[in-house]
Amino acid sequence: MTTTANKRKILVTSALPYANGAIHIGHLVEYIQTDIWVRHQKMSGHECYYICADDTHGTPVMLRAEQEGVTPETLIERMHGEHLRDFNDFHIAFDNYYSTNSPENRELAQGIYSRLKEDGFIDIRPIEQFYDPLKEMFLPDRYIKGECPRCHAGDQYGDACEACGATYSPTELIDPVSVVSGATPIKKQSDHHFFKLSQCRAFLEEWTRHGGSADGAPPLQKEAANKLEEWFEAGLRDWDISRDAPYFGFEIPGAEGKYLYVWLDAPIGYMASFKNLCERKALDFDAWWRPGSEAELYHFIGKDILYFHALFWPATLHFSGYRTPSKIFVHGFLTVNGQKMSKSRGTFINARTWLKHLDPEYLRYYFAAKLNDRIEDLDLNLDDFTARVNSDLIGKYINIASRSAGFIRKSFGGRLAAPDNGRDRAILDTLLEATATIQQHYEARRYSEAVRLIMDLADQANAYINEHEPWKTIKEPDLQRRTHQVCSTGINLFRLLTLFLKPILPQLAQQVEDFLNIPPLQWRDAQTLPAGHEIKPYRHLAKRIEARQTDALLEDSRESIASAPPEAHSPTRHGETQQHVPPPIAETITIDDFAKIDLRIARIVAAEHVEGADKLLRLTLDLGEEKRNVFAGIKSKYKPEELIGRHTVMVANLAPRKMRFGVSEGMVLAAGPGGKDLWLLQPDEGARAGMRVK
Ligand code: MSP
Ligand code: ZN
Repeated sequence: MTTTANKRKILVTSALPYANGAIHIGHLVEYIQTDIWVRHQKMSGHECYYICADDTHGTPVMLRAEQEGVTPETLIERMHGEHLRDFNDFHIAFDNYYSTNSPENRELAQGIYSRLKEDGFIDIRPIEQFYDPLKEMFLPDRYIKGECPRCHAGDQYGDACEACGATYSPTELIDPVSVVSGATPIKKQSDHHFFKLSQCRAFLEEWTRHGGSADGAPPLQKEAANKLEEWFEAGLRDWDISRDAPYFGFEIPGAEGKYLYVWLDAPIGYMASFKNLCERKALDFDAWWRPGSEAELYHFIGKDILYFHALFWPATLHFSGYRTPSKIFVHGFLTVNGQKMSKSRGTFINARTWLKHLDPEYLRYYFAAKLNDRIEDLDLNLDDFTARVNSDLIGKYINIASRSAGFIRKSFGGRLAAPDNGRDRAILDTLLEATATIQQHYEARRYSEAVRLIMDLADQANAYINEHEPWKTIKEPDLQRRTHQVCSTGINLFRLLTLFLKPILPQLAQQVEDFLNIPPLQWRDAQTLPAGHEIKPYRHLAKRIEARQTDALLEDSRESIASAPPEAHSPTRHGETQQHVPPPIAETITIDDFAKIDLRIARIVAAEHVEGADKLLRLTLDLGEEKRNVFAGIKSKYKPEELIGRHTVMVANLAPRKMRFGVSEGMVLAAGPGGKDLWLLQPDEGARAGMRVK
């Protein structure tokens, strides 16, 4: 496995993130999982490319751009920059990070559509759908809300009820409203293009069972394959792949006013991103994507998008003359502290917010320690995270370097000695012999087992050093040679552990390579350094996590409440998510319900920045009889000095909330989605502090 004699060609993808939202730590499960695998392949000397792109088309991007007053192109360009920066900072090393709104993708997507059409795989038939008469557009399911036809809960989306779990079609909703304009939608007919998935069943059954690679191995994990069998049994329905104008996407050739549905062109974006790379690297696109290709093709995805990748995608590829994936690797969903990520609990953590408080490699390490080859959800428990990073990475791994390096520089001129042939050789061999097993764990995506084994080896390395007590023997003149051997062995052990952890901790590995004065570690470097090799002075490599850092992370993620966009899409649905659209009016309440809320006019007598908080201002509010301390998430819009002296409205009887920066004793009221689009309420001239608002 370590030889380059059988150099493989490997193309790897992660799902393309939507261009209408920021990267969060849930996404990062996938990108980190994939990146570790790709780094492992590259360290093995294979020709491996890691491809991704922004998924740019569809209704949410179109509407969000409209709301921000920019073109979709401007919006997706900005998001592309933000996404790429987040990925870079988490050391996710794509070979190409492109966009589905590219000329390559247009050509490929339209070409694939045309080929399917020519071969009789496209059917055109009229369907009736909800249409927003004000906005003059057809409404995706998620843009319609109404009363659940089953349990009568209000304010439910057009595809499913969050209260009772029923699924239905939007036309079954009671009193539907358009989320886009608030209008009552009307039913309207139009022609839609369908991909005849029903005709692909025999192919798909065969592919699911034996289609992965030449050896006839199934392309899916067992749980995913079972899911597919269920879907086959339920029957495959033709897939609606067209959308009517207005739509941000690619036109359907020869069909005016019709666009390809985002989920048709999104996976083709994998090909387009690779094609773009081929132009830069002079690679032969067809050698990777046509039937009979020797290259391996792997897609890493979350469990919510299995249907698209395991049914639509292979069928699309196969029937348009391309090769199919070798394997699809499905992972579960991230929970934080045991629950679904939530804005109000502060556990909806964006990549950018994480970076402000914690080292990205610590998240990589923690995810690796929990990831395996199954489709299980995984939990980020922040206490466990802190304990684990501190005890494993700092206490076990880094500790080995800090205990050995100083003596080598101070007493032995920075040069290493050869190990002796007894105890030194034995511990080194233990690590060297584990290399193949660790590689196999990486290859099989059993990262948690790799980490467990590596930490077990680190324990043995520490035991070896404890046993020899170099900090004592260094003082004995006649034990100098032995001390030199022990410390040199310590450095060699540290080097091997660094090699083992490198796919997970690439940045740290690079710092270690610099300190050890060695070229970038590859799997073939599983040997010891020669005697006489000179290392550089040891500099501190990593810091412990303090509890206050994770507290601040949660607080920083929570404080955006006043300015947070609506919750991102639920993990079970795809494509048509709602963001930055005014939410529909909430459930009806009585006057008594309203009377419970004590709203008061407040005068802002002081306003100041809060150290360590990016979104909060600390306000001192005068209520006439008393003063209140309130933290408000309005820093993105207001400078403290422009607030002082102003009147506003506050919720005066809200339970006080303890925050990292102090207790917040109420809430001020503001409108708008957040960021710069935020407007603090202000009463008409004459209203005085303490007056009740009714
Ligand atoms: N745009 C589509 C994918 C198109 S691929 C041709 C999409 N985008 S997404 O931004 O919603 O998700 C991107 C990937 O991140 C998906 O594989 C998704 O499963 C994964 N995750 C999103 N939230 C996640 C968690 N909370 N936990 C783990 N993975 C998550 O789907
Ligand atoms: Zn219901």
